[in-house]
Amino acid sequence: MGKARSMVKLFFLVIFLQILVPAHTATSKTSTEFIFQGFNGNQSELELEGDSTITPNGLLRLTDRDSDVAGTAFYDKPVRLLDNTNSTVGSFSTSFVFIIIPSSSNNGGFGFTFTLSPTPDRPDAETAQYLGLLNKEDDGDPDNHVFAVEFDTVQGYKDSTDRIGNHIGLNFNSLSSDVQEPVAYFDKEGHKEDFQLTSGEPIQVFIDYDGPTKTLTITVYPTRLGSRPTTPLISQRVPKLQEIVQEEMFVGFTAATGDKSSAHYVMGWSFSTGRVPAATLNLSELPAPPPNRAKKRRFNKEIISLIVSLTTVITIMLVLSFLLLIYKRRLNQEEILEDWELDHPHRFRYKELFNATDGFNDNRIIGSGGFGTVYKGSITTTDDDDQIAVKKITPNSIQGVREFVAEIESLGRLRHKNLVNLQGWCKHGNDLLLIYDYIPNGSLDSLLYSKPRLCGAVLTWNARFQIAKGIASGLLYLHEEWEKIVIHRDVKPSNVLIDDQMNPRLGDFGLARLYERGSLSHTTVVVGTIGYMAPELTRNGNSSSASDVFAFGVLLLEIVSGRKPTDSGSFFLADWVMEMHAGGGGVLRAVDSRLGSGYDEGEARLALAVGLLCCHPKRGSRPAMRMVLRYLNGDEDVPEVEVYSHSSSRYSVPSDLKEPLKGDISSDALLQKN
Ligand SMILES: *[C@@H]1O[C@H](CO)[C@@H](O)[C@H](O)[C@H]1NC(C)=O
Ligand SMILES: *[C@@H]1O[C@H](CO)[C@@H](O)[C@H](O)[C@H]1NC(C)=O
Ligand SMILES: *[C@@H]1O[C@H](CO)[C@@H](O)[C@H](O)[C@H]1NC(C)=O
Repeated sequence: MGKARSMVKLFFLVIFLQILVPAHTATSKTSTEFIFQGFNGNQSELELEGDSTITPNGLLRLTDRDSDVAGTAFYDKPVRLLDNTNSTVGSFSTSFVFIIIPSSSNNGGFGFTFTLSPTPDRPDAETAQYLGLLNKEDDGDPDNHVFAVEFDTVQGYKDSTDRIGNHIGLNFNSLSSDVQEPVAYFDKEGHKEDFQLTSGEPIQVFIDYDGPTKTLTITVYPTRLGSRPTTPLISQRVPKLQEIVQEEMFVGFTAATGDKSSAHYVMGWSFSTGRVPAATLNLSELPAPPPNRAKKRRFNKEIISLIVSLTTVITIMLVLSFLLLIYKRRLNQEEILEDWELDHPHRFRYKELFNATDGFNDNRIIGSGGFGTVYKGSITTTDDDDQIAVKKITPNSIQGVREFVAEIESLGRLRHKNLVNLQGWCKHGNDLLLIYDYIPNGSLDSLLYSKPRLCGAVLTWNARFQIAKGIASGLLYLHEEWEKIVIHRDVKPSNVLIDDQMNPRLGDFGLARLYERGSLSHTTVVVGTIGYMAPELTRNGNSSSASDVFAFGVLLLEIVSGRKPTDSGSFFLADWVMEMHAGGGGVLRAVDSRLGSGYDEGEARLALAVGLLCCHPKRGSRPAMRMVLRYLNGDEDVPEVEVYSHSSSRYSVPSDLKEPLKGDISSDALLQKN
């Protein structure tokens, strides 16, 4: 009987135990722990929706790089996060390794989340900034019961500005993050180091929630660091979580792409509820990172096509600039002619002049000043070498050039043994080129003043007298013997060239008019050279044959005396000679002392008298060139020279011109002062 009782006792114990054991298993279900060292063979443990899939080598791929796709992956069993006794959210911990491979280095999107959701999928969730988690309508709805840690790679969620983003956010029922931090980790020294989610390298995440303190900590870092940083990136009290978490929750991932896209992969994942941290992932056991080859190949292709196209472009540009260079060189030589330029017989080809002067080489310069720079050139024709002088001038204004060329054309028809023969002209860009006969002995002023180049001696009297008569003859031709009256306007020694027969040749005739007409038409500027300008010129600027005669007079006195017409002081050559003439000592004291007695007294008296006549302050009292030549040739007696003085007739230079009185002031210098 007692045995039976003990049997009954045992039976009840067994029954009790059998009741107890299921009860025990029921409580053990309240905690969850799992670890996926890769996802090979775990299709059944995961709820995959949308674009999500497990790749053949065991990676969980949430999205590929298609545009506008979403994918979710949740652990298929519900997780109890609420504490049994007091219904507060208990501690949990998770760790995972992910890789994001953007479709192009600067253009990844949109990101992924680690999510606590009441459902193991996210029906109706949208792509792009909704990250496969929510949609436009339910975004922000407290009934969502969704908590997500977002890994966002596109900035600007509602204004849909698609700036590049790189941050981690804490989202409660909404895609607007309550907390947001740029992606970074703290190194051993505590320095914050930024890094990119879309770098394509494996990145490990630790998310730990401590129930009692309601604190969420998140640590994220590239696995290449080797060990977990001790300071988390985010450590935040999240009491809000209490309103989110329901009796049963699902844990997992969501991801989405938009117009920007990335492939989002999870390589391994561990999770645990309770205060024990999630199991440590053994990184060396995780599947190999996703093959980045497709992207790399594309990248390489891009690089290669970039290099190829760059090379092509550079080659084309080199060829083009080479051709341009050749073209420009040709252009430098070939002129583009305006219609009117074609029917002028005296026009030279620029190329011809360019070649004749070695490309206007500096060592071809034989003179400068006056109206420009003069180059010596040689044009090789079939039978002989033609020496030419090319004067290159850049008129201040190109407007007058056409008229000027017309004038040059007519001046080109002037033929006289005492004029420098103007062979022709050429217009090239803004430059005007005048082609003259080359005169070998240089200008009169170099013969008068520099070391004598000829015979090793001063210019002889005979030569001087011949030169004076020659100049007079040339001027007469300009004033009276040609079809039009030509006023030289700039008679002075440097404009008189001496040929190998010691004949003088006047050059630069008529040039001053270009300047008068050109840019200076609005101002009345005297054109000429100080010392040679007639008094009336400084008053009204009107050139006439009489003002040429005045300049000739000064030049004549200069030839005889070997003195410059003015100096820095109040010296004026004509007045100085007049003093000799009027004084008792005799006019011959004015003759160049370097000649000694080597001159003809009669001719010297004659020349000085004619010079003084020509320099008369009143233009009406000066003889015409025809008379001047007759006096010099002895065909006519020189009238008595009346005594005059320029200082008494208020001969003066304009005050603004007083400064450059020193030396030889050309009309250019005057022009540049304006
Ligand atoms: C994943 O699958 C492997 C192989 O089938 C299995 O051993 C492992 O337990 C699974 N992991 C989980 C967390 O279910
Ligand atoms: C709820 O109970 C757990 C242990 O069961 C305890 O750790 C926690 O502090 C309690 N929370 C509250 C708010 O009482
Ligand atoms: C990780 O896995 C490798 C290879 O399977 C093994 O040799 C190593 O001991 C593991 N490390 C840890 C910490 O378990």
